[in-house]
Amino acid sequence: MKLAPEKIEQIEVDCLLDVIYQRLGYDFRDYSPDSLRRRLNFLVEQERVDSIAELIPRVIHDELFASRLINSLLVNVTDMFRDPAFYKSFVDNVFPILKTFSFFKVWSAGCSTGEEAFSLAILLHEHGLLERARIYATDLSPQVIRKAKEGLFSADKIEQYTQGYRQAGGQRELSDYFFSCYDCAKLEERIKKHITFACHNLVSDSVFTEVEVIICRNVLIYFDRSLKRKVVSLFTSGLHPGGVLCLGSQESLNGLYDDESYEPISVTNRIYKRTHSIAQVASIYH
Ligand SMILES: C[S@@+](CC[C@H](N)C(=O)[O-])C[C@H]1O[C@@H](n2cnc3c(N)ncnc32)[C@H](O)[C@@H]1O
Repeated sequence: MKLAPEKIEQIEVDCLLDVIYQRLGYDFRDYSPDSLRRRLNFLVEQERVDSIAELIPRVIHDELFASRLINSLLVNVTDMFRDPAFYKSFVDNVFPILKTFSFFKVWSAGCSTGEEAFSLAILLHEHGLLERARIYATDLSPQVIRKAKEGLFSADKIEQYTQGYRQAGGQRELSDYFFSCYDCAKLEERIKKHITFACHNLVSDSVFTEVEVIICRNVLIYFDRSLKRKVVSLFTSGLHPGGVLCLGSQESLNGLYDDESYEPISVTNRIYKRTHSIAQVASIYH
């Protein structure tokens, strides 16, 4: 039977994902096929092999390659104050809500090396809200969580991040929050101590605690539609009624939730408020 090259490639991708799951425990089977194929074809070139199928034995027998492959599929790219317009909108629209709480919890899901949580903590500090906050920052990859816990950057990165910090509404010097450590800059403990980093898998783990804010930017774009729906439902179960879900400009809630669960706070930055369902209102008042 003759099969089209795309069909053959899809078979190879499916076999590879099964092997990754069985050998390494990472489940990419419901990630976006287009994005997976792009990354795998890039690896095929980089590793100088002829097909995705040739990566299969290497996943089984070559630990260093397996770790490179996982890093490449997870896409850990991040920055402090990435997309400053999002932070600006968060400060303008969500901080007034947070000011009404004496204590609140924020979950940064898919936090990579922690830059999103650090940025948010700095802005909360500048608005007198950090003392009331506990930020949980989680990622599937133990490697990025280890790095996040250090809060260590090359000194020139801080300079690069300064423009985003200003555009996000930062009021001081970004360098005020870091101390020099040889040729690196380390985030000060007074900011870092409000963040708890942990490994958490959005595909298979449950919600660990109820929170007032969930930020999950540049993560769902790598999932297929059914997995996006599953993760949004996980968020909905972990979000306090009246709480805020932030997906960032690259993602949208369209079609991923039942229409009554959320109302938009910022349409462009995809910031949503979880509405109270009738059942929730009844449980609050009884
Ligand atoms: C592109 S980064 C986004 C980082 C940050 N949120 C930002 O916008 O800068 C995507 C992150 O999602 C994480 N990720 C991918 N699949 C995940 C899963 N199933 N559970 C938790 N994190 C996951 C990756 O490890 C990666 O660090």
